[in-house]
Amino acid sequence: MRVLTVIPTYNEKENLPVVVGRLRAAVPDCDILVVDDSSPDGTGEIADRMAAEDSHIHVLHRTVKDGLGGAYLAGFDWGLEAGYDVLVEMDADCSHQPEQLPLLIKAIEDGADLAIGSRYIPGGKTRNWPVHRQVLSRGANLFTRMVLGTKIHDITAGYRAYRREALQRLNLEGIDSKGYVFQVDLAWRSEQAGLKITEVPITFVEREIGDSKMDGSIIFDSMTKVTRWGLVSRAGKAQQLVRKFSKK
Ligand code: GDD
Ligand code: MN
Repeated sequence: MRVLTVIPTYNEKENLPVVVGRLRAAVPDCDILVVDDSSPDGTGEIADRMAAEDSHIHVLHRTVKDGLGGAYLAGFDWGLEAGYDVLVEMDADCSHQPEQLPLLIKAIEDGADLAIGSRYIPGGKTRNWPVHRQVLSRGANLFTRMVLGTKIHDITAGYRAYRREALQRLNLEGIDSKGYVFQVDLAWRSEQAGLKITEVPITFVEREIGDSKMDGSIIFDSMTKVTRWGLVSRAGKAQQLVRKFSKK
């Protein structure tokens, strides 16, 4: 299977060479696509230099900062066009340990359409994550489980592998989730489409260099979108019930 790992970057100049080096060592066959949104700190130029020295590394430059989801959509388009069989999502800040990627690839080889690196199943962990981020992440997962009724334990997780055919079934053109809610959007679509989703326990390690790009507007965007999807899904189910009983 040809595997492409998509790494979105915004101001990750110190982290990018480290994560790419670790990934090249851990899974030498895997290709890498860095999707940089014209980072002011010069991450894009560093990515270009790495790509010039290593044919496994590719770079997609976008002209404006347009969100984590937008970066992944652009990366997936590129990867599907290039014919990869598996498309992986990985943060640039080493929170997703490249050494654990074989666990995700194995899950796909074993039949999963989507493999999620999960912090919230037995064996999954977070390391050095500040308490407020743990509370936010647990709360977001709890909220999403309640509103959507999803069975996924870590639906906001950003360390994932998708089988090519799974992504092709998800109607990527119709996605307007540009921020972090993109992760929930794709997992929810996958679940509704009846795809086989496997959660694999991983250890999420808090970044040591640079800052998170998460902010209040991202949280607000996520809560309003999840609430809307929950309402639409419940209205759909209620309609089905009404139809069923009115036929009787
Ligand atoms: N190209 C691009 N454009 N990259 C971006 C953008 C953007 O607008 N915003 C963030 N990124 C990149 C960062 O540079 C990093 O490589 C990755 O996306 C994740 O960003 P972080 O800011 O480090 O995320 P986090 O640590 O707060 O959040 C992590 O946990 C969340 C909750 O579980 C991520 O794994 C999220 O995906 C996850 O939802
Ligand atoms: Mn991070």
